[in-house]
Amino acid sequence: MSSTQPVLPTALDLVQVRNFEATEEFARHLDQIDSLARFRSQFVLPAPSRGSPSVYLVGNSLGPMPRQARDLVNEELDAWESLGVEGHFHAKRPWYSWHEQVRDGLARLVGAQPNEVVAMNSLTTNLHLMLTTFYRPSGRRTKLLIEKGAFPSDIFALRSHVAARGLDPDAEVVEIAPRTDAWLLEESDVEAECARLGDTLACAVLPGVQYRTGQAFDLSRLSRAVQGVGARCGFDLAHAAGNIDLQLTACGCDFAVWCSYKYLNAGAGAVAGCFIAQRHGRDTSLPRHAGWWGNDPKTRFQMTDRFEPVPTADAWQLSNPPILALAPLLASLQLFDAATMPALRRKSIVLTGFLEYLIRDTLGTNAEILTPASASRRGCQLSLLFKDNARARFERLTSAGIVCDYREPGIVRLAPAPLFNTFHEVWRTSVAVRDACR
Ligand SMILES: Cc1ncc(COP(=O)(O)O)c(C=O)c1O
Repeated sequence: MSSTQPVLPTALDLVQVRNFEATEEFARHLDQIDSLARFRSQFVLPAPSRGSPSVYLVGNSLGPMPRQARDLVNEELDAWESLGVEGHFHAKRPWYSWHEQVRDGLARLVGAQPNEVVAMNSLTTNLHLMLTTFYRPSGRRTKLLIEKGAFPSDIFALRSHVAARGLDPDAEVVEIAPRTDAWLLEESDVEAECARLGDTLACAVLPGVQYRTGQAFDLSRLSRAVQGVGARCGFDLAHAAGNIDLQLTACGCDFAVWCSYKYLNAGAGAVAGCFIAQRHGRDTSLPRHAGWWGNDPKTRFQMTDRFEPVPTADAWQLSNPPILALAPLLASLQLFDAATMPALRRKSIVLTGFLEYLIRDTLGTNAEILTPASASRRGCQLSLLFKDNARARFERLTSAGIVCDYREPGIVRLAPAPLFNTFHEVWRTSVAVRDACR
C-alpha cells in the first residue's frame, strides 16, 4: 500500500470504517477486522464448479446450508426412528410444540413479541390466510393495494383471492406505480395513492424490500399511510427478513409474511414466517381459515367440534408442523441470535457500501445501479441494470465464479450477505463486474 493512502482502520467494529480504498489489500484488511467473519465457517458454501471458489451472492434467492442443519434434521430422524409416535411428547424437542422452538428467535429477528409470530406453511399460503382475515371488503371499502411490479405470486394471490370472494380483480386490485422514478416507488407515492383511495381502500400488501431493485421501505410510514385512511396494512418481507433490521411491532402494521429460504438460510421450500400484531392475535373473533393446530393447545385434544383459537399468532396455524422442514430454520436462527441482527446490519451496510464504491465508476454507460444509494433505503442487494447485452454480461460474471442472478429486463442482482460473505469476495466481484462491462 502506498504511503499516500490513508491509514487503515484497526478498530474491531467495521462501523468505524468511513473511507474505502479500492485495493485488494484493503478488502483483506476489512475481513481481518470483521468481528462477524467467524460465522462464515458455520455454513457449507456450494462447491466451485470450476477452478477458484465461487462467490455466493444469491442468499437473496436461496441461502446456503448452515452446518448445524444436517445434525438437527438427523436428530429428528433419530427421534422418529427410536420413538415413533412417542416423539410427539418425548423427543428432545417434542414435536407437539416444535414450532415454539423457533418462536423467540423469529420474534427477535423481525422485532416482534413472541406471541406475534409463527413459523408455518409457505409465504404465498400465509398471504392468502392473512387476506382472509384482513381483507374484509364491505360497502365502499373494497380495494386492495399492491405495488406495480410486485413478485408475481403476490399479484396472483391478491387477484385470485378477490375473485374467490366473487369480486372483480380488475376493479378491486389497485397496482401503484412510481410517480417520478422509473423504478423506485417513494413512500410519498403510497401516501398520495392512499389519500386518493380514501375510504375505498380495504387493505394493502406492500414490500419490505423490493425484490428486483433491492429498495427498502420505511414500514412505519407506509403503515401510517394505509391505516390513516382506515385500511389494514400488511407486508411481504421475503427480501427483508434476515436482511434489514425490522421492527414489526413498532411499525404498527397489521400483518406480515416472509419466506425462510432466502436470507434465513433454512433450505429450499423452508417453512415460512408470519406476523400478526398482538391486538389482532388477541381478538379470537376475527374471521380466519381454521385448523386444529390453531386451536388452544390446552383443549386441542378434547376433539370437540368448536374451534377455540389460541389468542396469539399461533391461531392461524392449520396443521401440525413439518418437523423435518423446520429443523434447518432452527439451525439458522441460532446463528442470527449469536450474531444479532443489529450487528449483521452494521456489517451489511459496510459490505454493500464497499461493493458500490468499487463498481460505481467501472459501470460507465453500460449499466446503472437501480438500488438507492442511501443505506437506509436498501438492504444488502445491489441491482445492476445493463443497457445492452445484459445476458452475455451476466454469463461473464457467472463464468468468473460470481454466483448471482438475472431478472428481466437486464437486471443482475448481487446480494453480499453479512453472515457468510467476505470483503475479499466483494473485491473479486468488483473485478468481475469491471471485466463484464468491457
Ligand atoms: C418477494 C417475493 N414474494 C413472494 C414469493 C413467493 O414465495 P413462496 O414461493 O415461498 O410462496 C417470493 C419468492 O421468491 C418473493 O421473492
